[in-house]
Amino acid sequence: MNGTDTTLLDIRDRFPCLEQQVHGKRLAYLDSAATALKPACVIDAVTQHYTQESANIHRGVHHLSEKATASFEAARETVRAHLNAAHTHEIIFTSGTTDSINLVAQAFGQLEIGKGDEILITEMEHHSNIVPWQLLRERSGAVLRVAPISDDGDVDREAFRASLNERTKLVAFTAVSNALGTVNPVAEMAAEAHAAGASVLVDAAQGVPVQPMDVQALDCDFLAFSGHKVFGPTGIGVLYGKEGLLEAMPPVKGGGDMILSVTFEKTTYNALPYTFEAGTAHIAGAIGLGRALEFVSELGYAAIETHEAAILADAFEALQAIEGVRLVGTPSRRKGIISFLVDEIHPHDLGTILDQEGVAIRAGHHCAQPVMAHFGVPATARASFSLYNNHDDIDQLVAAIQKAQEIFG
Ligand code: ALA
Repeated sequence: MNGTDTTLLDIRDRFPCLEQQVHGKRLAYLDSAATALKPACVIDAVTQHYTQESANIHRGVHHLSEKATASFEAARETVRAHLNAAHTHEIIFTSGTTDSINLVAQAFGQLEIGKGDEILITEMEHHSNIVPWQLLRERSGAVLRVAPISDDGDVDREAFRASLNERTKLVAFTAVSNALGTVNPVAEMAAEAHAAGASVLVDAAQGVPVQPMDVQALDCDFLAFSGHKVFGPTGIGVLYGKEGLLEAMPPVKGGGDMILSVTFEKTTYNALPYTFEAGTAHIAGAIGLGRALEFVSELGYAAIETHEAAILADAFEALQAIEGVRLVGTPSRRKGIISFLVDEIHPHDLGTILDQEGVAIRAGHHCAQPVMAHFGVPATARASFSLYNNHDDIDQLVAAIQKAQEIFG
């Protein structure tokens, strides 16, 4: 594994999913931007919860409940440390990035956004960082502005700056584009937004799996990510919010655990972070996510970044060498995601043929239709890489693309 840090040498053995064959072929899993595979330690942590401490949290006085509560709250502290948040109660467990962004759109929306106020996003956003703001626009009469991207797939920073004004209340953008792999200069963009008096939300769904996201260093007001893209379970995610803002925001979901007392006349709400965690949480998911973040810390982002950069460079070179392959987007800084087209083959057909060769990629609009529209295509094929990918995966991808070209003549 050329360019691979030695810490990652036996990494594939830690992912049970990679042991199987697909259609009789070795599995080349190149769809980690959709969801990452899970290491055995995460699967074990979830199993351990269900086998040893399956109980509800915060409510029980019995042994299992106390154990489950301790594990759940320990996971929250692991998330805090991972993001370097100032306070553990700034970490809200949600069902994922989408849920986190919707929470902000509703609660921050109620607190801060009125008719004529502006929300600024970029053209490279995932639908989950577009549609919640459109819904808020419908509710509030706010204006949604969009900073365009260049044909390379970078945010047009001049246009971004020019879109900021005294009416801008929130700037929401992705750390890493799920469709193009573009890495945004989060701290710089956040500083520009703050200088205009706006709050900042960072969609870190593709960021947390591949790079440190220190919320204090980045100085973002909100940061959202999902467990399943960072080797954790599906159905669990995180919203980080600065204490002052979270304290000021109204709860948007009512139910158990988010209250201190309830009468028919009046309900008193629980303190942070529980104000925003109504109902029984995804306890096993949070515990699994905590273990996944520990797994990332044990390996270290430096090793992960070195490995992924080597694989990305290899894939880039290999794809460019195939006649008929067109790469979509050539951003100035990129993480392990490449969108591409092959001859006139529809990406769905390509994805189906690749699957027969054991190669898992994503084909479609990647929940980023405005990005597709920018490049004038309805869909792309997308290969995305993680720490368990190696050069055999790239060779298999290349051979499978060549096979598809043969089939389509
Ligand atoms: N957002 C996920 C992706 O990019 C599903 O594939």
